[in-house]
Amino acid sequence: MNYTFVTLFSNLIEGYFKDSILKRAIEKGLLDINYLNPRDYSTNKHFKVDDTAVGGGAGMVMNPQPLFAALDDLKSKDENVHVVFLTPVAKPFVQNDAKRLAKKSHIAFVSGRYEGIDERVIEKYADEVFSIGDYILTGGELASLVLCDAISRNIEGVLGNAESLEIESFETPLLEAPSFSKPKIYDTLSVPSEYLKGNHSKIRSLKLALSECKTKFFRPKELKKHKAEQRLS
Ligand code: ADE
Repeated sequence: MNYTFVTLFSNLIEGYFKDSILKRAIEKGLLDINYLNPRDYSTNKHFKVDDTAVGGGAGMVMNPQPLFAALDDLKSKDENVHVVFLTPVAKPFVQNDAKRLAKKSHIAFVSGRYEGIDERVIEKYADEVFSIGDYILTGGELASLVLCDAISRNIEGVLGNAESLEIESFETPLLEAPSFSKPKIYDTLSVPSEYLKGNHSKIRSLKLALSECKTKFFRPKELKKHKAEQRLS
């Protein structure tokens, strides 16, 4: 998978790939990361990339010219690049999107700074637009890293044996059951005794019950929906 981060601030992103799973995936040749700075494409004599909003409104908006030029250049080099914009004004990114996008060969993440990106850029170039949640970040860079991370772990070979893709939260409507590591008793706190007895069918039913508890507590609407779906099937 090729990723291109279209951003004014690649420094904000680079560090994430310097350790752990994604670093290993780059070393194994499974991921290739590139950066494209719209400022390098600005025809303004001071390399300006933003301006005040037409029609009024607070803050600066990213101009179309540098982004049109940067994205035209990118698309001229790879017509299959899938262009994703990050903005709070979009549909929420979910696990199914991560799995689907893991099958692409090249994704470009376009991050806005300031008050946003001139809408004409999004209209012309976006294959998809995502938000990572109902809050406003100072820019799209963190959001693009969130997508990149969630997508990458669905690419074959990125996760080692120790990190499994099976039975994770969001693979089913229920949240995942709690996990415990060793020692079995720590600071007088024990892991659930059923987990210790080795009866796998009992452990499975306990995990299901705990999953339902977690979902009821954190996502009560989802649990109701899940139960209603079970009754129908
Ligand atoms: N840029 C600023 N806030 C954002 C959000 N919540 N999701 C995606 N991109 C953003």
